[in-house]
Amino acid sequence: WTVQVPSEKILRAGRILRNAILSGAPHMIRDRKYHLKTYRSDGIFVVLDLQKTNRIHSDISETLQLLSTGATLYTCKPRIRSHTESFCLFYRRCCVGTELVDWQIQQSSCIHSRVQAVGLWQVLLEEGVLNHVDQELSFQDKYLFYRFLDDEQEDAPLPGEAEGKESQEELQDTLLLLSQIGPDAHMRMILRKHPSERTADDLEIIYEELLHIKALSHLSTTVKRELAGVLIFESHAKAGTVLFNQGEEGTSWYIILKGSVNVVIYGKGVVCTLHEGDDFGKLALVNDAPRAASIVLREDNCHFLTVDKEDFNRILRDVEANTVRLKEHGQDVLVLEKSLGSSRASTHGASYKVISGTPEKILEHLLEMMRLDSQFTESDDFVLTHCVFIPNGQLCPALQGSEQEKRDYTLNNKRRVIRLVMQWAAVHRDHLQEEDTSVAFLEVSIQQANTNVRVLLKVYCCDHTYTTIRVPVGASVREVVGAVADKLGSAEDLLLVGLSSAGGESGGISSVLIKWLEVTPLPEQEGSSTGPLASFELMSSKDVAYHMTSYDWELFHCVHELELLYHTFGRQNLKKTTVNLDLFLRRFNEIQFWVITEMCLCSQLSKRVQLLKKFIKIAAHCKEYRNLNAFFAVIMGLSNPAVCRLSQTWEKLPSKFKRFYGEFENLMDPSRNHRAYRLTVAKLEPPIIPFMPLLIKDMTFTHEGNRTFIDYLVNFEKMRMIANTLKIVRYCRSQAFSPDSTQASKNQAEVRTYVRQFKVIDNQRTLSQLSHRLEPRRS
Ligand code: CMP
Repeated sequence: WTVQVPSEKILRAGRILRNAILSGAPHMIRDRKYHLKTYRSDGIFVVLDLQKTNRIHSDISETLQLLSTGATLYTCKPRIRSHTESFCLFYRRCCVGTELVDWQIQQSSCIHSRVQAVGLWQVLLEEGVLNHVDQELSFQDKYLFYRFLDDEQEDAPLPGEAEGKESQEELQDTLLLLSQIGPDAHMRMILRKHPSERTADDLEIIYEELLHIKALSHLSTTVKRELAGVLIFESHAKAGTVLFNQGEEGTSWYIILKGSVNVVIYGKGVVCTLHEGDDFGKLALVNDAPRAASIVLREDNCHFLTVDKEDFNRILRDVEANTVRLKEHGQDVLVLEKSLGSSRASTHGASYKVISGTPEKILEHLLEMMRLDSQFTESDDFVLTHCVFIPNGQLCPALQGSEQEKRDYTLNNKRRVIRLVMQWAAVHRDHLQEEDTSVAFLEVSIQQANTNVRVLLKVYCCDHTYTTIRVPVGASVREVVGAVADKLGSAEDLLLVGLSSAGGESGGISSVLIKWLEVTPLPEQEGSSTGPLASFELMSSKDVAYHMTSYDWELFHCVHELELLYHTFGRQNLKKTTVNLDLFLRRFNEIQFWVITEMCLCSQLSKRVQLLKKFIKIAAHCKEYRNLNAFFAVIMGLSNPAVCRLSQTWEKLPSKFKRFYGEFENLMDPSRNHRAYRLTVAKLEPPIIPFMPLLIKDMTFTHEGNRTFIDYLVNFEKMRMIANTLKIVRYCRSQAFSPDSTQASKNQAEVRTYVRQFKVIDNQRTLSQLSHRLEPRRS
């Protein structure tokens, strides 16, 4: 706490009080003695302060310092006891605390209590118009010495008669003025006390003050009472003082009692101003994150209440407002909400999640919050959905900008930007190649990234084996080829045909895969070597299901997570393509029509029953292979009106198969939002091929039921929901599909070719006609 330059008003008040004392009760201001006793032991002086027995000056230097603050050595009477001396300090022209309080109470009827009078004298003390002889910062109603500023000089002038009279006249107004500001000064005095020294009365006074503070208005009585015991007063004299810097660790929460501060962010400057009653510094505490901004005093002499981190967490963690709104230039830029659930389990209090915000502020916040040592799901959500609200063309400069502006800021921050870029590149993959700005940006970023960072690449060879190599993040194709050649012992006949990433699950780029083929064509690329197609009848259901799944995996693997998002938000709007997803969805319909076609083209009843059994078995095998997409397609094919109306066929179906089919139909029951299916999937481990139309439906539902922007801010909750659906796709593919390759039967190649070339009738009318021809309507 620094003594401020006294204001004119208070300076004058002090002069009037002094003159009034000198003209009415001059004996109150006089030279005074202060008794001290000194012990000498082992060459060390110990000075015991007799009047204030709670204070011991432990060595001679402190004694000398005391002497130098205005006290003069008055007498020194050696005592009989050899190593004890007693002497007095002599203070010039001082008053005594208790006497000042007595005097004030006598003077004015508007001063009712000693506590109130203490507040009035505290006003003078805070501004340095009255000083304790030993520079104590709070006025006390005790036998302690205080001296008026005017008495500090050697020959302080005494007031003339006229001056004395004038002071008497003005005394009441002065006391009134002081009694108005006294309570605040008194409150500050209490708040400066160590919490353990606060009396019950003190706590009551603080509590009453807290009732008027805006930042605390939503808190309960109990919480305010608890706060009264821990709040600390802090004041700073000069405008421009930095309370703390962006990036530092947060240690306290602040409430502005008086004055105002600027919130300053690197590269942005002042983003907003906070005033009396506002609070700040909560974010870093609740999130255990670095300070998101620097706080700079906007005017001289600002007062704050602070709560340290430990107390904050203890008292406010569970009750603090659920929502935090950050403003820049008067506009909301980020809205955070306390996330429940995880709060108790986590070691660092509750954490806040983004509800909405401007794209740039959300990005800034996520970078700030990013922990390099752990997975970070919020930045994942951002990376997965950002193209809806900030296209790559704007994201790249934003990342670059913040990276450059903060170059001097911290290395960690740079690392965070790079980490996000990696995440982003891993998610977007090949899609970025179509965008010049993104490619250029990525090249620069990768150069900036530590070139020592190496990634593990899996290199797939045509014989279905793979090997791994380690290359620097920014390695060129030629370098990769070289590394593989070294490993395999030959560079001939090798060609890099593709590079893909399984997404960010293990920190992005480290899970990049390389598909590697020799230039000699694969057997299947040469076309079928077998004779005419074997009939479907002869193929085992398991083989068919296996090859269907294997093909579905190829198609599913090619679908980029983001295609679902493009599909939902409109690929035209986003100028993106969804070809792989379209192919995959088309395959779903193809399987359905294949089932219907086969059933409707089978004219012999007994064969049709066999066929029906076979499809149920195929569905069962697809389910075993966790290919739920094909499973649904087959069952939906069977439940198509053209098939389910074939009652003669169904009647002949053995009851075991009827039961299976019944179970499968239950699984497809759409009621309660496909609860049966969701419960089943939740129990499965990846690899899974999910029922894609349902994921699309979920996406559309989220999209249509929630606005993308709320008051110009990105509705990040919606983005989180969208990202969660995309993450399901990611989860399903987090393990590669590699069933036991004991496909013993001989006609594997035929089955493989067959399932890839279904011959289907995709016209419902035609199928219906065929169906009626097989089993005419019963009269
Ligand atoms: P914290 O991160 O602990 O420290 C800086 C504080 O500034 C931050 O908490 C918020 O309380 C406050 N603040 C106010 N407005 C903003 C803003 N627009 N961006 C970041 N911090 C802000």
